[in-house]
Amino acid sequence: MDARIAVLASGAGSNLQALLDDPVVGPCVVLVVSDNPAAFALERARGRGVRAVVLEPAHYADRREHDVALEHLLEEEGVEYVLLAGYMRVLGPSVVRAFDGRVLNVHPALLPAFPGAHAVRDALEWGVAVTGVTVHLVDEEVDHGPIVLQEAVAVREDDDESSLHARVQEAEHRLYPHAARLLIEGRVRVEGRRARVLSGEPVSAAAATPGRGSAP
Ligand code: GRF
Repeated sequence: MDARIAVLASGAGSNLQALLDDPVVGPCVVLVVSDNPAAFALERARGRGVRAVVLEPAHYADRREHDVALEHLLEEEGVEYVLLAGYMRVLGPSVVRAFDGRVLNVHPALLPAFPGAHAVRDALEWGVAVTGVTVHLVDEEVDHGPIVLQEAVAVREDDDESSLHARVQEAEHRLYPHAARLLIEGRVRVEGRRARVLSGEPVSAAAATPGRGSAP
């Protein structure tokens, strides 16, 4: 039986689109959840006939109640894997524990550099020559869990936030479906704070060579 995947997204949903377009991952996406009723990601899901649900934080008494609603929804759909794709809320600890080792996030920088919501801007302001994309397992700390794949993106002299983000997103759209496939194929093994891809290729090799992390 195919894996059952939920994607959580708050915005444009270009990463959701890349996941939906992947021939292995796409058919497994059974649910898209957003905290933002205006998220274009919802349209993308509906366009593919995927159930799209809004859980607006303002409709819940507190963070815990919102987490409980999300957990119920994931349970109702028999979800096995959760992919965060530009989801602007921190996943509650009970959800992280319930899906331990089965939640991925895509982050627009080479973690542990530049965590947080403005990673592309922060990298540019810091003056780094290389930034990139990280796909990592989610733990209870923000932008922190074991790294599954990374891909480097060179910063150009004339880059602004938008040109750099566009190239970072191109890398995201390659890397995230690849990492999702590895996860649902059971090829990601966590050893302490490291994630290993079961082909035997060390995670750090993907980080060291631009493009290598996205090889099929
Ligand atoms: C991506 O750059 C992702 O790395 C970050 O949020 C952005 C979401 O973009 N976490 P989109 O909604 O997938 O287009």
